[in-house]
Amino acid sequence: MAPIPRGGTVAVTGAAGFIGGWVVRGLLDRGYRVRACVRDVGDEGKVSFLRSMPGYASSRLSLHAADLDQPGCFDNVFRGCHGVAHVSHVSDYDDQDYVQRVCDHVIASVNASDSVSRVVLTSSIAAVMSEVDFQDYVRRPVFYEDRFPDEQNPRRSTAKGQGYSMGKVLAERAFARAAEEHGGWDAITCCPGDNVGPIQSAHQKERGPWQHNIEMMLTGKYYQTGAYRPWMTVDVRDDADCHIGLLESIDVVNGERYIAWSTETRNVEDICASIDRLLPELGHDAPAVTDPFPERVQAREAELRAIWAACDLRNDRIRAVTGVRFRSLDESIRDCVESLLSIGQVAVRRRPDFQPAD
Ligand SMILES: NC(=O)c1ccc[n+]([C@@H]2O[C@H](COP(=O)([O-])OP(=O)(O)OC[C@H]3O[C@@H](n4cnc5c(N)ncnc54)[C@H](OP(=O)(O)O)[C@@H]3O)[C@@H](O)[C@H]2O)c1
Repeated sequence: MAPIPRGGTVAVTGAAGFIGGWVVRGLLDRGYRVRACVRDVGDEGKVSFLRSMPGYASSRLSLHAADLDQPGCFDNVFRGCHGVAHVSHVSDYDDQDYVQRVCDHVIASVNASDSVSRVVLTSSIAAVMSEVDFQDYVRRPVFYEDRFPDEQNPRRSTAKGQGYSMGKVLAERAFARAAEEHGGWDAITCCPGDNVGPIQSAHQKERGPWQHNIEMMLTGKYYQTGAYRPWMTVDVRDDADCHIGLLESIDVVNGERYIAWSTETRNVEDICASIDRLLPELGHDAPAVTDPFPERVQAREAELRAIWAACDLRNDRIRAVTGVRFRSLDESIRDCVESLLSIGQVAVRRRPDFQPAD
């Protein structure tokens, strides 16, 4: 179907979130009209950063209360919109019937709008590469859009921690199918990597989990991540640009998915060490990583790290259709840290001998 017109109106779900907040800001910067959807418009701790955006003063940005657990939740909001960026989380990924139900709510509101021509759905790299069997990374080490986790594996279940990945795949297919059946709009999926970059509101420091991990590094205790998986990152601002580029693109087709990551990877310990390297003025007292894994996993550390190191991350397709140029991870870490200090008021653990500059 059709991309959104320049200066058109776009609804953003999960607008108070880390990614949603940057999608809102990016759309405003490019001249769009934005309907920001949050569950509670009166929760100032979450929405005041949206109200302080210049577009809010002119009413180019408006706030709307909508809980996607409620049928008809977006009927009034989507009516008159050209596009929807459906960025929001859902309340429970482990209940696949519930995930289908909330997809149906959003889809029904898109169908009822009579105006929406494109939906960009936020999925995740978990829907590309979350495997229960590590040998699948050895067998299929290239992480690109046509790759899905091994869905035939009988151990792929919510009980094995795959609910998030399964729920995201379910949502991708539900939107693509609904768009095809309707014929008047298309659904394009964005699968972001691990988002790093600046928070815009203090409440976002607890989310992520990536910006929260950096907050923990700053305050003195952080943890090893997912079976020694290195961070596979995207700057949150670039991720937002990818979403907007997919709303605008004339080269995408219903049901397609695009991975949003820079392809830069870094182990969690090296992320922590980067803080002092990038910002020596802070005197950051880098803590040692806490490894919470059971002994049988710790015994495989070298083997698992080698498997991850051999994986090949690709972003050819999203660069081709959106033209996004991804920032370096160093820039994302620096800006994340500075926002955690200035907006999140995080207190840094400093080296005992550190003398701050005047
Ligand atoms: N962060 C990452 O690295 C990452 C990576 C890959 C994919 N993703 C995906 O990106 C999306 C956004 O992630 P994020 O990191 O920006 O998360 P976030 O900061 O936690 O924001 C998520 C937003 O979802 C909203 N939400 C949750 N349940 C809702 C419901 N029942 N009805 C309406 N809104 C609801 C919340 O709204 P309230 O403000 O009302 O609480 C919240 O603002 C998610 O779909 C996530 O799966 C994130």
